Amino acid sequence: MAFDGEQVLDAIRTRRVVRFWTAEPVAEHEVRRVVDAARWAPAAGNRRVHHFVAVRDPVTIRLIKAISPGISELPTGMIVIAIDHERVASAGGQFHHRSLMIDVGTAAQTMLLAAHALGLGAGPVTSFSRAGARALLGLPHSMSPELIVCLGHPVQNVVNQRVQPARRIRLRDLVSWERFDAQKPARPEGGTR
Ligand SMILES: Cc1cc2nc3c(=O)[nH]c(=O)nc-3n(C[C@H](O)[C@H](O)[C@H](O)COP(=O)(O)O)c2cc1C
Repeated sequence: MAFDGEQVLDAIRTRRVVRFWTAEPVAEHEVRRVVDAARWAPAAGNRRVHHFVAVRDPVTIRLIKAISPGISELPTGMIVIAIDHERVASAGGQFHHRSLMIDVGTAAQTMLLAAHALGLGAGPVTSFSRAGARALLGLPHSMSPELIVCLGHPVQNVVNQRVQPARRIRLRDLVSWERFDAQKPARPEGGTR
């Protein structure tokens, strides 16, 4: 292995959603590395029918924040993950919507981890106006923006959760071994969002 497996697991464990950023702009090469990482995310049938719009322009970022209830503070970068329905159609159109959305998730998580690996802060947002984002980014109607990854340099030493701090779900509440365990509580104690 060309990497330290424990460090990868540490990165997975220590990544947290960042919602507060300093004014220091995120560099173009950093955004590039984050989107580049997402080229390696798994995708259904390996058909790449998504498109990423990387944004660093402060005016555009302000405008997108204005149409996004899910963004509380101003990031300095954004990557918008869109589904390209023309590519879906030209690939035969045989995509279940579920697969398309799962691919949005695999790309997003890969970006979040890449940002974390680079010492950046990142947070996913789905609470935004699709029509507003499409208009602001000049996306054609064949593309639907599905998720925004906000990026930037994280503010240190703040309680970095707009929502209640995520209490980590316990493994025993999350997993059944070999067969479904009906004894598990439907909603585990200390459950998380
Ligand atoms: C599909 C999805 C949508 C999300 N949308 C938002 C959002 O609109 N605004 C926000 O602040 N956080 C959003 N989050 C972040 C979650 O609130 C966060 O991942 C969760 O509280 C756990 O925190 P952690 O990732 O730091 O462990 C979203 C996460 C996911 C996976």
